[in-house]
Amino acid sequence: MKQTVQTIREKKTQGERISMLTCYDYTTAKLMDEVNLDMILVGDSLGNVILGYEDTVSVTMEEMIHHAAAVARGTKNALLVVDMPFLSYQTSVSDAVKNAGRLMKEGRAKAVKLEGGEEVCPQIEAITKASIPVMGHLGMTPQSVNTLGGFKVQGKTLTAAKKLLADAKAVEDAGAFAVVLECVPERLATLITKQISIPTIGIGAGAGCDGQVLVYQDMLGMFKDYQPKFVQHFAQVGEAMQTAFQEYIQAVRNGNFPTEKQSYAISDDVMAQLEEELV
Ligand code: KIV
Repeated sequence: MKQTVQTIREKKTQGERISMLTCYDYTTAKLMDEVNLDMILVGDSLGNVILGYEDTVSVTMEEMIHHAAAVARGTKNALLVVDMPFLSYQTSVSDAVKNAGRLMKEGRAKAVKLEGGEEVCPQIEAITKASIPVMGHLGMTPQSVNTLGGFKVQGKTLTAAKKLLADAKAVEDAGAFAVVLECVPERLATLITKQISIPTIGIGAGAGCDGQVLVYQDMLGMFKDYQPKFVQHFAQVGEAMQTAFQEYIQAVRNGNFPTEKQSYAISDDVMAQLEEELV
């Protein structure tokens, strides 16, 4: 079934949990789409898991568009959400609308995601008014790593918890159709989920959210640079890949690959004539 902003919102009212994963390429997008994942996120985690950057701060609009367009070509039914990279929306409302528009026109996104609470509500309002659906992102917001002082759980004090709840309500009022809650204590995320009418998508925010999102390299056990507590490995694809790479190396070295099965034939006549001409 084709997912839209409306079907995703309906899931909350129907008490149906929402599944979301990150994705950065055509092949993986097809695999996810074929098994009916609800939403695909071209996250700016692209910077960490694909481009090898230290954080998401360096990710550019061009990089997001390039990968979003590839994912879009492999996505038929899942709702495609694309991250707005650092400084593509914080600078001004007009930059935000223009850049969200580029992600839709050039990256073929169906919605954009941006980080922040009350301070980015003018942007959320303006982008939504331009007919571009917006997903919010609260809690641990990786683009603000330098002001947050590292990757830490957010909302643990009374003041911080109240601020997070106020931000969630503000993002909803500004027109967001859903909001990611990252690294938020489970009971606080559950409370926020009950207090707002738009779906909450948790990552390190416990089971009380309306949906869950993970970086796919994390959940497949492919990314080892760091492993947050909230990640579960649903497969050991990294190990399976390394075993296959090792077997390939061995087969090439000892001449067991390729065999006749992977080779192309030519007629005996042509070969005989060729060899005759060479002598
Ligand atoms: O960039 C990303 O992958 C994200 C998810 C972690 C929600 O924003």
